[in-house]
Amino acid sequence: MKRSVIIVKNIQKVYGEKRGNPSHALKGISFSMDEGEFVGVMGPSGSGKTTLLNVISTLDHATDGLVEIAGTNITKMRQSELADFRSKKLGFIFQDFNLLENLSIYENIALPLSLQGVSSNKIGTKVEKVTKMLRISDILSKYPSEVSGGQKQRAAAARAIVHDPAIILADEPTGALDSKNAASLLETVANLNEEQGTSILMVTHDAYSASYCKRILFIQDGELYKEIHRSQMPRHVFYKEILDVLAELGSEKR
Ligand SMILES: Nc1ncnc2c1ncn2[C@@H]1O[C@H](COP(=O)(O)OP(=O)(O)O)[C@@H](O)[C@H]1O
Ligand SMILES: [Mg+2]
Repeated sequence: MKRSVIIVKNIQKVYGEKRGNPSHALKGISFSMDEGEFVGVMGPSGSGKTTLLNVISTLDHATDGLVEIAGTNITKMRQSELADFRSKKLGFIFQDFNLLENLSIYENIALPLSLQGVSSNKIGTKVEKVTKMLRISDILSKYPSEVSGGQKQRAAAARAIVHDPAIILADEPTGALDSKNAASLLETVANLNEEQGTSILMVTHDAYSASYCKRILFIQDGELYKEIHRSQMPRHVFYKEILDVLAELGSEKR
């Protein structure tokens, strides 16, 4: 049986309660995700996608409900434990890559391991492995300003997986990319999922990006609206199905 990498039960998030103007961003969302899945989260602007991802990524606290990541209940953890959990178990891909300009590509990729105090020998072996896989072995001594946009993305992907996280979390990872680089990042991420069995949860408002996922959760006004599975569908067929659900969502609003 597959193990769950994420279990979310009835999470609620209310912002601004103390200020006296509460805004209910998540209204009882429940879902689970198995190890090795590639799941997308879609929904209109303001529907709660980023809030959901932030709660799952331990960057924000749910007001109520349960979040379990790789078998650990994170809703009861203290800040110090959370920081440790995050650095060991989670990998992040950000919209703007977040590579540090004054570190070499090698140092950037090694960062999650250096922060954990892993020996430099072990770090060397791990970095060599992931950079070979992502075809960036030849740029390791360069600095971010000296490499192409596509190479930066692959470096960011390498950094997200170098410490073998239980799951990769991505919020609009293609948001700042042109269509060619977006396609290449999505191919990279889909390959990680296919070939390494990496579990990925990706928030996007873009149907093209979402078509790379195997399952999509649609949220609307802080609630789960629908979920669809790609199954054996070719990507362009799944893309059309995604557009249909988005159209449905749009017409419900009116
Ligand atoms: N820090 C915050 N304080 C108050 N309200 C917030 C905050 N962050 C998000 N919200 C509100 O929560 C809702 C969901 O926002 P968000 O999760 O960013 O949606 P999405 O990522 O789908 O666009 C919106 O109504 C937004 O205005
Ligand atoms: Mg958002």
